[in-house]
Amino acid sequence: MTIRIDTTINGDRMEIDVDPTLTLLEVLRENLFLSGTKEGCGVGECGTCVVLVDGEPVTSCLVLAGDGDGANLETVEGLAQNGELNEVQQAFVNTGAFQCGFCTPAMVLSATALLRDNPQPDEEEVKKALGGILCRCGAYPKILEAVIEVTGEGA
Ligand code: FES
Ligand code: FES
Repeated sequence: MTIRIDTTINGDRMEIDVDPTLTLLEVLRENLFLSGTKEGCGVGECGTCVVLVDGEPVTSCLVLAGDGDGANLETVEGLAQNGELNEVQQAFVNTGAFQCGFCTPAMVLSATALLRDNPQPDEEEVKKALGGILCRCGAYPKILEAVIEVTGEGA
């Protein structure tokens, strides 16, 4: 059995038929081949599967695909425009804020959402916004530096 959902993904509105037992993460990765969204734990603990749903970071492994009906979804694939990285992505490159890169899509999306709401977050606000995402490489200092760079408070 499938259900049809009407959703917008990275600016493209689409109707897709999905197995209602699948998570949003599974549909993004396996049906739509948007593999930038990573599966770490699969049970809501690591945060690497974060996507933006109506502008808010959501762990996509805990959301059923049907919950995407009528939603505006953003994945890391949608951040660059016309071949240009968004400012958070560029700051991650500038500061070397990744090692293996597994957590990077979730970090970048969550930081992008934070900065849209609050363009001048302080360090504590950045840490709070990204605190649910585990970086097994321990790249946290560089990640923090990258987000602060976007605020114009960096070096
Ligand atoms: Fe979703 Fe870990 S894969 S929280
Ligand atoms: Fe490897 Fe964060 S850079 S998990």
